[in-house]
Amino acid sequence: MIPSLDQLLLQRRSLRSFSDHPIGRPALLRMFEAARWAASAFNEQPWSYVVLDDPQSEVRSRVLDSMEPHNRSWAEKAPVILASVAQLGFRGRDGANRHAHHDVGQANAHLALRAAELGLTVHMIGGFKPQAAAEALNLASGFEVVALMAVAYPGPAEALPEPLRLRETAPRVRREIGEFVRFG
Ligand SMILES: Cc1cc2nc3c(=O)[nH]c(=O)nc-3n(C[C@H](O)[C@H](O)[C@H](O)COP(=O)(O)O)c2cc1C
Repeated sequence: MIPSLDQLLLQRRSLRSFSDHPIGRPALLRMFEAARWAASAFNEQPWSYVVLDDPQSEVRSRVLDSMEPHNRSWAEKAPVILASVAQLGFRGRDGANRHAHHDVGQANAHLALRAAELGLTVHMIGGFKPQAAAEALNLASGFEVVALMAVAYPGPAEALPEPLRLRETAPRVRREIGEFVRFG
């Protein structure tokens, strides 16, 4: 049965314990199909993704090196690392697209919900050195890494060292709607 949107919103979690079960290309393509349908300013679709799924790849290891060590320690165990990349300018006209990061974020959110539906966890990572990541990926100027993502089937929380083990199973905390919405 297809989970409801409410179920997916609750199911999606940023986990750190990963199974080494490989992620098939069809699952990845389903995630990118979800990203593809995100809204974007002027329908510019400023996102692109680099899939780092080869554990021997030098690019993958340089991207892992760009992460803060506390992120790398668990992210390196993910069978797939994704780099989400923003095109900062418009394709057909001059000027900066000030919505580029926002729109890549939207695409990432779509992708992460689809992943949840497929039983995968997507852990987004902002703790990395943007310049080092851009160099590892050989990005042209005008492109920027927005977030790295560790993608995996979940593993057992017990495999993690403390304090990560506790965080893995801790209840998710959110502000109440009244704290971030003002009607009128
Ligand atoms: C843009 C972005 C950057 C993040 N960076 C990190 C990070 O560097 N390290 C980390 O452990 N988690 C990172 N996270 C994950 C958040 O901590 C996580 O989404 C938040 O605690 C809510 O948990 P949930 O996703 O399981 O609901 C990041 C999430 C986003 C969206």
